[in-house]
Amino acid sequence: MATKLAALVVLVAFLAGPAACEGAFICFNGWLRLPIICPRGSGTPREPVPSTSGSGLSYGYYTTSCPSAETIVTEAVRKAVVVDKNPGIGAGLIRLFFHDCFVRGCDASVLLNTTNSKNSDTEREGPPNKNSLRGFEVIYEAKTAIEAACKNTVSCADIVAFAARDASYFLSDGSINIPMPGGRYDGRESFASETDQLPGPFSNVPQLQASFAAKGLNPVEMVTLSGAHTIGRARCMFFSSRFSEMNQTYAASLMAECGDNGNTNVNQDYVTSNVLDKQYYQNVIDNKVLFTSDAVLNSTEETRTEVMQNANTAGAWERKFEKAMEKMGKIKSDQQSVEIRKVCWKVNNNYK
Ligand code: HEM
Ligand SMILES: *[C@@H]1O[C@H](CO)[C@@H](O)[C@H](O)[C@H]1NC(C)=O
Ligand SMILES: *[C@@H]1O[C@H](CO)[C@@H](O)[C@H](O)[C@H]1NC(C)=O
Ligand SMILES: *[C@@H]1O[C@H](CO)[C@@H](O)[C@H](O)[C@H]1NC(C)=O
Repeated sequence: MATKLAALVVLVAFLAGPAACEGAFICFNGWLRLPIICPRGSGTPREPVPSTSGSGLSYGYYTTSCPSAETIVTEAVRKAVVVDKNPGIGAGLIRLFFHDCFVRGCDASVLLNTTNSKNSDTEREGPPNKNSLRGFEVIYEAKTAIEAACKNTVSCADIVAFAARDASYFLSDGSINIPMPGGRYDGRESFASETDQLPGPFSNVPQLQASFAAKGLNPVEMVTLSGAHTIGRARCMFFSSRFSEMNQTYAASLMAECGDNGNTNVNQDYVTSNVLDKQYYQNVIDNKVLFTSDAVLNSTEETRTEVMQNANTAGAWERKFEKAMEKMGKIKSDQQSVEIRKVCWKVNNNYK
C-alpha cells in the first residue's frame, strides 16, 4: 500500500513535469531533496558533484586540478587592495566571506541574483547586505580568469574564502596568514529572509553569542571575529542612537561627520582605519566604537577578558583571528551545494 502510494506520488510528479520543480521548492525545499521526482522532465540535469560543502575541505585542494587558482585570486585581491589602493574593497571581501558562511554555509549563496527557484529576492537584497556589501567585482574577475585557465573546476565559494584570506594578509601588512582549505561547492538557492541569521549592530552579548553558537562558533571566537571591525566603514544609521553613550570627544567628531544623514559612512576604526590590527580592542576599552554590539564586549567578564588580552598582548588576536576565520570557512552548507558554478552570480541552469 505504501509502495503504491509512493509510486503514485512519483507518477503524478512526473506527469506534472517541470511544474513540479518550480516555485514551491519541490526539488529543493532548503534541506530536503527529493531526487527521485526531479531528474526527468525537469530541465537539464545538474552535474553530479555529491559532497556537502565543508565535509571534504583540504589545503591545496586545487594543486593538481587547477594549480593557478589560488594565485589568480591572490593577484586579483592584490590589484584591488594594494595596486589600486582600495583597502575598502579588502574590508568588503572579508565581510562577504562572513555573510556567505553565516547564511546556508560557505556556498557563495551571497553572490547569487538568479537562483534555481528563480527567486530574485536573494541574500544580496537582505537588509544586512543591500547597499552595503562590496568586493563582488574582485570575485567575478578572479572567477573569469580561473575559468579561462581551468573550466568548471573552482567553486565561487572557494574564491570567496581565498579572497578573504588574501584581503586579511594585505590589510595586515602580512601579519595575518589564514590557512584556508578549499573544496567547497556552490549552492543553488539564496533568500533575503535568511539574512536574519546575521547578527545585528544593536545586539547584546547573549544575542551575539547565540547567533555565533548557531553556526558552531564559541564566545571567544565571537569576540575574536568582531575584531574585523578594525577596518572598513559603517553607516551612521547603525550607531547615531548611541552618541550619548560614547566617549564625548569621539561622539562629537562622529556627529560632525554624520550630520543628519543616516546613510553617511564613517571609518570603523578611527585610529588605523585601513589596517587589520588589534586597535579595535583598545577602541572598545576607550568607549570609541560604533555599535552596541562592539561596546557590549566590555560589559561581561567573559568577553571583557578577551578584549583586554587582545588589546594588550602582541600577536594574540592575530593568531586567534587566523584560526577563527578558518573555522568560519568550514560552516557546513546543505545538500543544495552541489555544483561548480560557471558564473558566480547565477546557478548553472534553471529548471524550466
Ligand atoms: C559580531 C557581530 C557583527 C555585527 C553586529 C556586525 C555588523 C556590522 C555592520 C552593521 C556593519 C556596517 C554595515 C553598513 O553600514 O553598511 C559592519 C561592517 C563590517 N563588518 Fe561586521 N558585524 C559583525 C561581525 C563581523 C564579522 C565576524 C566580520 C568578519 C570577520 C565583520 C566584518 C565587517 C567588515 C570588514 C565591515 C566593513 C565592511 C566595508 O567597509 O565594506 N563583521 N558590520
Ligand atoms: C546579476 O548581477 C550581475 C553582476 O553584477 C549583473 O550583470 C546581472 O545583470 C544581474 N542580474 C540580475 C537579474 O539582476
Ligand atoms: C574621551 O577621549 C578624549 C581624547 O579623545 C580624552 O581626552 C577623554 O579623557 C576621554 N573621555 C573619557 C571620559 O574618558
Ligand atoms: C572596559 O573594561 C576595562 C577593564 O575593566 C576598563 O578599564 C574600561 O574603562 C572599560 N571601558 C569601558 C568603555 O567601559
